[in-house]
This record gives sequence, C-alpha cells and structure tokens, in this order.
Amino acid sequence: MKTHLRTIVYLLMILLAEVKGLAQTRHYHEPHRPQFHFSPPYMWMNDPNGMVYYKGEYHLFYQHYPEDKVWGPMHWGHAVSKDLVYWRNLPIALYPDSLGYIFSGSAVIDWKNTSGFGINGQPPMVAMFTHHLMAGEKAGRSDFQYQSIAYSNDAGRTWTKYQGNPVIPNPGIRDFRDTKVIWHEGSKQWIVVLAAQNQVRFYGSPDLKNWTFLSNFGAEHGNHSGVWECPDFFPLKVAGNNQNKWVLIQSINPGGPNGGSATQYFIGEFDGKTFRNDNAPDKVLWMDWGRDNYAGVTWSDAPEGRRLFMGWMSNWDYAQNVPTHPWRSATTVVRELSLRQTPEGLRIFSQAIPEQKKLRAKGFTLPAQSLSGTLDVGKKSGLSPAQLELELEVMLPSDPQVKWGLELSNASGEKYRMGMDAVQNQFFSDRRMAGKHDFSKAFGKAIHIASRESKDHKVKMHILLDVSSVELFADEGRVVLTDLFFPTTPFDSISLFCEGGKVDLMKGQLWVLKGIWK
Ligand code: FRU
Repeated sequence: MKTHLRTIVYLLMILLAEVKGLAQTRHYHEPHRPQFHFSPPYMWMNDPNGMVYYKGEYHLFYQHYPEDKVWGPMHWGHAVSKDLVYWRNLPIALYPDSLGYIFSGSAVIDWKNTSGFGINGQPPMVAMFTHHLMAGEKAGRSDFQYQSIAYSNDAGRTWTKYQGNPVIPNPGIRDFRDTKVIWHEGSKQWIVVLAAQNQVRFYGSPDLKNWTFLSNFGAEHGNHSGVWECPDFFPLKVAGNNQNKWVLIQSINPGGPNGGSATQYFIGEFDGKTFRNDNAPDKVLWMDWGRDNYAGVTWSDAPEGRRLFMGWMSNWDYAQNVPTHPWRSATTVVRELSLRQTPEGLRIFSQAIPEQKKLRAKGFTLPAQSLSGTLDVGKKSGLSPAQLELELEVMLPSDPQVKWGLELSNASGEKYRMGMDAVQNQFFSDRRMAGKHDFSKAFGKAIHIASRESKDHKVKMHILLDVSSVELFADEGRVVLTDLFFPTTPFDSISLFCEGGKVDLMKGQLWVLKGIWK
C-alpha cells in the first residue's frame, strides 16, 4: 500500500512538472536533451541496472533519485524497449526501505523456479541488488552494504522484496556492492560476482537465497587507481572458432585512462569457482577510452546469445553538475560485444547494434577522394551534425605524418574536434572549446586520448553524434571513445580535416538520425 501511495505521489509530481514544462519547452526536447539515447524523464540517473530480456521486452532499470537532479536515496527507475532503440518509461520499480537505498544490481529470469518465487507455472523475475544503509555509513560503521533480492511475477511491473534479506550479509568490507548474477550451466548453480573494494568476490547458490563464498579475484590485476564497482561476468565465444572465454568487466572510479570513471575488462577461464586471468596481471584493457561511459553491464537472456552492453554516459567527476534540466544523465547506445583474435591477443570489440540503423533518415555519400586541408561536409550535404551518424574509411600514407578527423562548430564560435593522430597512432577527442564547461573544473581540461594497438594503414571510424554526445567506434569497435559536450547552441556545421599531409578517403557515408522521443 505504502508503495502504491508513493507511486501515485510520484506520478502526480511528474504530471505537475509536465504541465509546468509544457509552458516552457516540449518535454524531451529541452536544451542538451539526447534525442536517440535513453535519458530519464525527470531528475537524477546513474548506473543502468537489472537489464534482462523477457517475453519480447528488454528491461532497463537504473539508479534513480526521483526528487532531485543530484544523487540521493537510490531507487530503481524502469523503462522497457522492444528493439533496444525506442524506450518506454515505466513507474519506479524499487524504493528504498528499512534496509537502505537500492544500489546497483542485476536481474535474471529464474526459469527453473529454483527460488520458489514463481506462480502459476510462470518463472519469476528476480533482482539482486545492494542495500546501502545510510545510517550505518553515517555512524562510521563498515558493514552498511549487503546484498538483497526481490522478485516480480508480472514482468517487472511490481516487485516484492524477499523477507529473508539480506541474502549476503556484509563480512566487514566497506565497499561491498553491485551484484551481477548469472546461471552457470557448468556447475549448475547461480553465480554472483560483486565488487569488494579493490577486487571482486564470487559466490554460488542453488536458489538465489542461500549463498556460499567461492573465491576472489583482482587485488593484483588490472588498474587500481580507484575503487572497483559494478562488475559483470559472462562467457563469450571467440569470433571464428568455438572457443569459449570468460569475460570480467570491471568499472573503476577514479583511474580511467583520461581521468575519473571508466571500465576495464579481463579475459580468462572460470571453473565454477575461480576466475583465472589469461593476461599478465599488469595488463589493462579498457572497454572505452572516453570520459563518459561508466558502470556498463550486459543484458541477461538476450535472444540468440547476443552480449548486449549499455553504460551510464557520464563521469563521477562532474555528473552532478552538468548543465541539463529537468533531468541529469543518459545511457550510451546499446552495443554488441564480440571477442576477436588480434595479433596482440584476444580483445573485446564493441559495436553499435544494427537495430540503430532504423533511425537513419536522410543520407549522403561523399565521393572517394584525397583529403587535405578542410572539407566542408555540411555545405556539401546540407546535413546538420546535431543528430548524425558517419562511417568513414581512410587509407593512411605509408609514412603517416597526418592528423585527420572531423570538426563540429556553431555560430557561437564553439567547436568540437575528434579524429586520429597518425604520428602517435592514437585517436583523440577535444571538447575543450565545445561549449559550456565552467560547471566543473574537470570537464573541459584536456584532450582525451585513445591508444590504438593496430598498425593497419586502413582506419575505420563509425561515429554517432547526438545533441550532447559523441560515440566513436574505431577499427570496427576495437577502440571506443564516448564523450559528452554542451554547446550553447547546437552544432550546425561539420567538416572533415587533414593536417600535415593527405589521406585517401575511401568511404564517407552520413545519415541524419531520427529522434526516439515524440
Ligand atoms: C557506481 C555506483 C555503484 C553504486 C551506485 C550507487 O556508479 O557508485 O557502485 O551501487 O553507483 O548509486
């Protein structure tokens, strides 16, 4: 009853804000509002949570504070999609309770009803998340985070918290959170991985309620410049053969390659108990080199065995200060992960899902040509870069001394530049002059760099530009870079440039993208 009352109050708040908002600007079309990314209708959002596919719907839950545009008592917001492109907002799924705020976690379909929560022969949807007891933290205790479960018998619309919570009590570790549950067929049990300060811990369970500690991993592996958060763990087939590897995705804050929040990953073996890293302990592999892809995890039960990933498109360095209203934060587009053999070893490749293509509206093809100096693409095509997709393929000269890429600009004299520095063999993203940045010292400080391992003279860039973000998938997704920017007026000019020589533009395809919000 209490929950229903809260839902009604929440809906009334939204209605009121909507009426107020209508007088100002159309909802979902406010300045800087992403047009083809998910963002919450109102107020604060951080990590995506509990992503699971069930009966034709992709569920997205998310860290949400419905009463303010900054972080606060965490709820799980909720949206669903039939195609991972268009999203429908639903009422809040989980509210804080006497055990604490509802922190990050995951959801599964308990197909065999191992938990006994199913009814009428239908499997329950079970969420496992971290309870964070603020009073405990404030009192200086170290055991204020523990793991709990809740279940839904109506496809995620309403939830019941388990009476026996917490299901994994705190063993005396201050940072002890962010549960990712999977069914492990090999050992026929549920496995949960969670972050514990500077490492992860694995637990096993027959029924999602009773958990046994299995092992830990990571204290001596990867990057440790910050606290570990939001792990994900899944098997992935190596493209082109039948080998199966285990991937551990591990967010870290701070410590990212360009500062603040970022996500690393490990590839290895798992025997139902212990994870073994295939790479040297000091090898660090990044999911994304940009500043704005954090806490990303993948969908449970995605059809056809796809491994679909989505991140929070922001950074704890400035997320609570970005100049947006009446909401804060968006997610990345959904990305499909694959594991590919490269001369340097196995690597995760991330690519925007092909479903995104349905947003392509007007297109334009640049003829193959040699590129040096500046090419005004906007003038040529009549296309504006605010919502744009580009596929560029370039052949570098044999002794490359060039820097090439694209530049967005507007009449206010703001510009954003991104591209490749062939001398350094790296990609870059430069938002220092791209608009508002005085809301945070950390935002517009430096050029962001993404190291390129490949020495291939052929370079492919797939770029998605929304009103306030860029996502670069370079070399077929081997190098990814996601960044936000906040131009005072939308960028309306776009050009390609090449400095220090010339490159051969072999492919230049552009599409204006439709928005997903009415
Ligand atoms: C990551 C994180 C998680 C935590 C949640 C709280 O961004 O700090 O570790 O569960 O956000 O909102």
